[in-house]
Amino acid sequence: MAGRIPESFINDLLGRVDIVDVVGPRVQLKKSGRNHKGLCPFHDEKTPSFNVNEDRQTYHCFGCEAHGTAIGFLMEYDSQTFPEAIETLASMVGMEVPREAGRGPKVDTELYDVLNAAARQFQRWLRGDEAGSAVAYLKERGLSGEVVRDFGIGLAPSGWERLKTALTSFGEQKLIDAGLLVRQEGGRGRVYDRFRERIVFPIRNTRGRVIGFGGRVYGDGQPKYINSPETEVFRKGRELYGLYEARRAQRGLQSVVVVEGYMDVVALAQHGVTNAVATLGTAIGESHFETLYRHVNLVVCCFDGDEAGRGAAWKAVDAAFPVLSETRQLKFVFLPEGEDPDTVVREKGAEHFRTLLDDAVPVGEYFLDHLQEGLDLDQADGRALLAELAAPHIRRLPRGALQEILINDLASRVRMDASVVAGAAGGARERVPIRDPRANERHGIGNKPLLKYVVQYPQLIDGMDATVRAELADPTDASLLADVVRHLVDEPGMNTGTLIGCFVGRAGYDDLAALAEEETLLAKEAIVLDLEKRARRYVFKRQEAALARRAVESGSVDDAKRLSDAKVRQAL
Ligand code: GTP
Ligand code: MN
Repeated sequence: MAGRIPESFINDLLGRVDIVDVVGPRVQLKKSGRNHKGLCPFHDEKTPSFNVNEDRQTYHCFGCEAHGTAIGFLMEYDSQTFPEAIETLASMVGMEVPREAGRGPKVDTELYDVLNAAARQFQRWLRGDEAGSAVAYLKERGLSGEVVRDFGIGLAPSGWERLKTALTSFGEQKLIDAGLLVRQEGGRGRVYDRFRERIVFPIRNTRGRVIGFGGRVYGDGQPKYINSPETEVFRKGRELYGLYEARRAQRGLQSVVVVEGYMDVVALAQHGVTNAVATLGTAIGESHFETLYRHVNLVVCCFDGDEAGRGAAWKAVDAAFPVLSETRQLKFVFLPEGEDPDTVVREKGAEHFRTLLDDAVPVGEYFLDHLQEGLDLDQADGRALLAELAAPHIRRLPRGALQEILINDLASRVRMDASVVAGAAGGARERVPIRDPRANERHGIGNKPLLKYVVQYPQLIDGMDATVRAELADPTDASLLADVVRHLVDEPGMNTGTLIGCFVGRAGYDDLAALAEEETLLAKEAIVLDLEKRARRYVFKRQEAALARRAVESGSVDDAKRLSDAKVRQAL
């Protein structure tokens, strides 16, 4: 997809377009002086209260308060996006829209369409007359029709070319790119369905779009599960099965339970534990935790009660350490040998499962207990060994209260002074977390007028100066504003509704929804300029505060000087 449209072009374009030429063909207008009147297209009325002002190049309805400029009119009336509206206007005056170099390729949105179509087809098959034994299998595993529907579970029937035939309209290559068809290697390169005679679990991203599938055999057959391969939209290292469904089921989701299998997620939901998620057939990694802590403060890992499950728990500690903090908690539940969350909740019920969650072991305790296994802490060398084993891990924790708690706990176990242990464990930390550890503990909304613009016109972020945008999205900024901008940078082109949708059930949701409804008096072009101005000021203020803090902390003349230089630059 094309890159950004330069702002200078937008200004130039608006100088050449006449709003009357834009509204005129769509709404019948009557001229009276420099004003044009007509029936408002945005609400039902019998006497005209819709005005187009030629001098100001704006429209305004006295009945429903709709107002804006040529761009805004096209966006409202024709439901165009900001770039589409620009294209329309440019073609009216015979201008070519220039594009700046983009920020990397945009994802192929047609993949989402293909995957969505496949999910629907799988669901139809599960309701069809080939579904007898698949339905019986799901019933036997205790799943109701309602849960099957909530999770969008479907059926890939037997046969080699069922989906291929059902979705021919997308073209074979698209289906291969989506991971739905496989091209046989060598030979004649036959192309066939990846999922055959399996129950399929659609995997959705947090916005609810299908990005891949997991398929389980319901009769005999090997392997037990197959998963979609990595594709442009399916990143196994980041995405989690059930996260979308969990957020949908619980407003204000506070915690999630990470389990190993799709079936565990679905079985827990069946029993009312609706906050379970699973990785996509891979071990849980740091990026999974990053994803999770963007949505919740507490993650409880509940892996199978077997050797593999215990191994997975220890790996999870390792993956999570760099991103943990006092407000990003991690706990562990250890199930009895041979059990998994599915069997436990089915045999013992949801109440029992919830008590297991309540009694989960905090990460620090599990971490030290695990390292301590087999060591004799009554012996000096046992204690020395524990200190030595723990130090490199503790060093990977972000500095802060959690690290200190662990250091103190370790110190008392090894009967050393905390400062000695800290000396070994608290040395230079090699990694800075990708996102600020406090991202969940929001520090205000940032800047209200700015946030309001961004919420009401999310596409403007796209056209903004790249440096300023990057500063707004600064990972160490824990404000709601920064969080919103990070979402828009991750997924350009979202409209207000989609954007707010990302916050459903989260702290900022109400603020965003309210801001979206607030009236804005400025015309769109004025907003573009005002947004940029306010953004620069906001970013500057933050840098200034950081510099001032540094100058005070370090007492450094250099920092103080940089601060005054920056003030001078801002004043210019
Ligand atoms: P059930 O046997 O249906 O209860 O499955 P489960 O959800 O308990 O899964 P299990 O604990 O056996 O495996 C956990 C996860 O590992 C599954 O959800 C899959 O993602 C993955 N997995 C399991 N078996 C296979 C396999 O044979 N191949 C692949 N690729 N992944 C598998
Ligand atoms: Mn199982």
